[in-house]
Amino acid sequence: MITGQSKIMGVIGWPVEYSLSPVMHNAAFSYLGMDCAYIPLPVQPQMLEAAVRGIAAMGMLGANVTVPYKEQVIKYLDEVHPDAQKVGAVNTIVVAPGGRLTGYNTDAEGFCAALLRHQFDAGGKKAMVLGAGGAARAIIHALLKSGCHDIMIGARKGEKAVSFAETFSALGNIKGFDWNSSEFKSAYKNAGIIINTTPVGMDGISDKALPVVWSDVPDTAFAADIVYSPPMTAFLGQAKMRGCRGMNGLSMLVEQGALSFELWLGKEPPREIMYEVLLQKL
Ligand code: ATR
Repeated sequence: MITGQSKIMGVIGWPVEYSLSPVMHNAAFSYLGMDCAYIPLPVQPQMLEAAVRGIAAMGMLGANVTVPYKEQVIKYLDEVHPDAQKVGAVNTIVVAPGGRLTGYNTDAEGFCAALLRHQFDAGGKKAMVLGAGGAARAIIHALLKSGCHDIMIGARKGEKAVSFAETFSALGNIKGFDWNSSEFKSAYKNAGIIINTTPVGMDGISDKALPVVWSDVPDTAFAADIVYSPPMTAFLGQAKMRGCRGMNGLSMLVEQGALSFELWLGKEPPREIMYEVLLQKL
């Protein structure tokens, strides 16, 4: 029940009606008996600045930011944590006393935590990242943080992957390719981790487009998909047939949410409850 003393958080996005964050956070509040509520905040593009300032004006604790605003929101904040600056995107805003807005990015750390949960150590391994958008950017920072500096990025438009990879060139051996090129395809035999950061395989999007040469992939490689609906994508199904371990996007979703929860409330959320409610929902 929401009371006069409830602390309010929410998620800013457009559209936002399919976000699973309200379900996940409200389940955590209810389990812990906290007088808090987490609400969807559908914000039209021309209202973004007003909405962001509004979370402070209305005495909210903070908010998550989702598609398509993770980058645009930065210019409306008072401060941005160095990790979020590196990623170039904010998914969590915290309102400090006095109404100052600080932006964080918990996506990268959420991906690290998800790997840890699956007991996979990416340190020193070769990573192959499919896709060159915002999600890939957070995941590449997560890989770097995990000690993985040998990263090949493949995308359907090779030139986009090349220019995207150049933005990381000072941070490791990070190169971009057309994912159908022979150079990219021949690297699967050395892959330690393969990550799908594209929406391919998501409900409603054909799962035929990812050209992974599974027959070359060592069975020690780990397969990570950012897609969580359906829970078992064609990508993860093929990885499983090859004998590889893997995880879908649910772990990253829960872990990034758990880190946001900690930033707002200064306590650990019940992760298992968050997983459970999302599994039921999906
Ligand atoms: P986000 O910023 O959320 O990561 P995005 O930038 O729209 O999302 O897409 C991420 C990556 O998935 C991009 O490399 C994108 O390729 P394009 O830049 O060519 O669009 C890729 N992608 C999106 N839809 C795809 C599809 N149906 N098939 C193959 N790649 C796709």
